[in-house]
Amino acid sequence: MSADLPPDEFRSAMHRVAEMVADYLEEVEEYPVFPAVAPGEVAASLPVSPPVEGEPIDRVLDDYKALIEPAMTHWNHPGFMAYIATTGSGPGILGESLAAALNANAMLWRTSPAATELEERVCDWLRQMLDLPAAFSGHINDTASMSTLLALAAARQRLYPETRRKGVAGGPVMTIYCSDQTHSSIEKSAIALGLGLDQVRKIESDGDLRLRPEKLAAAIEEDLAAGFHPMAVVACAGTTSTGSVDPIRAVVDICRRHCLWLHIDAAYAGGAAICAEYRALMEGLEEADSIVVNPHKWLFTPVDCSILFNRHPDLLREAFWVLPEYLKTDDGAVTNLMDLGVQLGKRFRSLKLWMVIRAFGVRGMQERIREHCRLAGWLAGEIESAPGFELAAPVPFAIVAFRARLDGASGEQEDEFNERLMARINAAGPVMLSHSKLHGRYVLRVVIGNLRTTEKHVRAVWRLIRQEAAALLAERKAV
Ligand SMILES: Cc1ncc(COP(=O)(O)O)c(C=O)c1O
Repeated sequence: MSADLPPDEFRSAMHRVAEMVADYLEEVEEYPVFPAVAPGEVAASLPVSPPVEGEPIDRVLDDYKALIEPAMTHWNHPGFMAYIATTGSGPGILGESLAAALNANAMLWRTSPAATELEERVCDWLRQMLDLPAAFSGHINDTASMSTLLALAAARQRLYPETRRKGVAGGPVMTIYCSDQTHSSIEKSAIALGLGLDQVRKIESDGDLRLRPEKLAAAIEEDLAAGFHPMAVVACAGTTSTGSVDPIRAVVDICRRHCLWLHIDAAYAGGAAICAEYRALMEGLEEADSIVVNPHKWLFTPVDCSILFNRHPDLLREAFWVLPEYLKTDDGAVTNLMDLGVQLGKRFRSLKLWMVIRAFGVRGMQERIREHCRLAGWLAGEIESAPGFELAAPVPFAIVAFRARLDGASGEQEDEFNERLMARINAAGPVMLSHSKLHGRYVLRVVIGNLRTTEKHVRAVWRLIRQEAAALLAERKAV
């Protein structure tokens, strides 16, 4: 018996997988974006117990094709316009496949010299693409949630280094500031770091959903007067709901005045900042202490890949530095990626990003981003001029938040109408949208972030939105 799949079987299965992947990407539009499955249906189609004897790999691939692929929500579908639409691009998929073959654990330089050094180089490429100073060094995490957690751990290390030994109990009560539009990962970081949700100050945003600097300054003063220890501000360069950008320059000034760590969540719109005109919307970004940008959101890299740019990597190292005997090496002044966070084991994520940047080139990536923003701008223009609809927020990038309006209806009735509208649109099959609440009101979101999404698809979604709204309106009038 061969310990692994025999080489010839592996080779032929790999060829089959290559065909399956290429077919999937070419034919993904034949699926509805959201599968016609009820909760529990997939589980019911799978054996309860594992097979005792091994099965032919072709049979497993048949089952993948029959049971798994059709029951997925298809993020690589051109009609996927929900949440933060992303693309696992061709070059990225190739990189991910090669990384799986290498199966490298890049915890130490010694366990993965090329993975370590490629990660440093690729992060520095992106730093240059974002026009950030060389003082930032980058490393890759799985998600923005982890990158932000690490940034805030470094901020905590700066403010209260004793935390490492003593924990937070009995120490100063440290506070974090962000707008009411900031992503939930900030709250999760506060929980994980032991600060607690009560120490997250959510600052009211303005009419355009941007943090209000004067309210931020007032909250910090109030906390200082009450004996709290302000630790960090998280500003957003591209919020999840609408892509709004906080006034970074004003926030920088406040952080400087109070020696606060400034972390910028550019997980989504950081991708757009490789274009000078979108980078210009983030003036002051270069002054931050740390920034998170997710190539797996808007830089065509398959999930997962999030880069934390940090001006103070030594603080991050101090925060988590633990070196047991079995991990000691005599490699000298090398980077050991395990030192930059909580986890020891580390996937080789830079390979896929390297392949994306090389295959598309910086110019190619910029053109793709600009096209997404152009499509979003077109849709926003249509919505703005259509009777019965309104834009719910400005559209700085490629998230279009909008709602249908009903003459003479209450806010609650309009919310309910929009909720039902989204359910109808999503049930139709060729598109998937998601929602948010802005100023307390339900809004639908169309997010353009997929390389397969073209003008044809955006025109089709706009037709579908109008058609379903008209049908719903007719039903409403009939009762
Ligand atoms: C602005 C922003 N920050 C953070 C996140 C969290 O990203 P991740 O899933 O990589 O943790 C998201 C997710 O959509 C986001 O839009």
